[in-house]
Amino acid sequence: AKKAADAVVVIMAGKALALSDEYEAQTIRSPKSQTWDSKPPLSLLLKTSPLISELALYDVVNTPGVAADLSHISSPAKITGYLPKDDGAKLAFKDADIIVIPAGIPRKPGMTRDDLFNINAGIVKGLIEVIADVAPKAYILIISNPVNSTVPIAAEVLKAKGVFNPKRLFGVTTLDVVRAETFVAEIIGTKNPQDLNIPVIGGHSGETIVPLFSQAKPSVTIPADKLADLVKRVQFGGDEVVKAKDGAGSATLSMAFAEAVLKGLSGEKGIVTPTFVYLPGISGGEVIAKETGLDFFSVPVELGTTGAEKAQNPLTNLDDNEKTLLKAAVEGLKGNIAKGVSFAHNPP
Ligand code: LMR
Repeated sequence: AKKAADAVVVIMAGKALALSDEYEAQTIRSPKSQTWDSKPPLSLLLKTSPLISELALYDVVNTPGVAADLSHISSPAKITGYLPKDDGAKLAFKDADIIVIPAGIPRKPGMTRDDLFNINAGIVKGLIEVIADVAPKAYILIISNPVNSTVPIAAEVLKAKGVFNPKRLFGVTTLDVVRAETFVAEIIGTKNPQDLNIPVIGGHSGETIVPLFSQAKPSVTIPADKLADLVKRVQFGGDEVVKAKDGAGSATLSMAFAEAVLKGLSGEKGIVTPTFVYLPGISGGEVIAKETGLDFFSVPVELGTTGAEKAQNPLTNLDDNEKTLLKAAVEGLKGNIAKGVSFAHNPP
């Protein structure tokens, strides 16, 4: 097995692989992709990780400049930028160990993540097709929204190409976890929110996001009159950022998750974090899939040298409020997952 220090990480940012006319037109009209305001920080975070030896950036614009800029940082990662010309995607992804996908467009105020489906679904599908051909063993971390649908799309594309490994496909839901920890810390007065560990399960949009305060470690007591607002704030934390950025983008903070995968790969023990996975393909996932009636769901997953090694079952200890939230989440997720699967089989 490769040491994590040999890992090649590829970020595919922004408007990778323009697949529709509308999309291409948009790219030409606004070459300063709105997504790039958030992608350089993600590249920067990865460039500073000591666990990464090679970092390749791919997008339809800007990657050579960002790569040149970041290349001066004195960290081990050798960084390169690729554009679509001269088979850039293939070269960037070839034999990558980990591929992080924040590609596509972000929300504007008033939009749901599902409103991004029409553009982002095709972009993710196109990228996964290339990955299946040139980096079939890569760990794929999907940030592109709507995550509840783009991860099922990726799974279906990989299945069709005969290279699907459920232990290596992840929907990144880390933002929900860090939000839950931060907002709870504000309420109960924890100085460092990182001292809290709060599982967040389900999906990555609105009511599909289910924070499990009853399973917080150390245990926390949320005042009854604050609970409903707290749940809403975790579920709609992304909207806070989208609104504040006022049309200029949304949040992207995936590093914590990429780092968890890298640590697991490097053999570090006890790396457990919620992530949106294909349950039937992961040890311990079958029973959760049965209970929820869903194949894709975010639960705390143990990460190791082979990827997602075990899904922990958080459903056995839910309190009454969490049971109600779970019901709504399952309903919402059913539609989101079915939409992704159907798109993968019959793209418009
Ligand atoms: C988030 O949770 O902040 C991201 O999914 C971006 C968004 O659209 O909210």
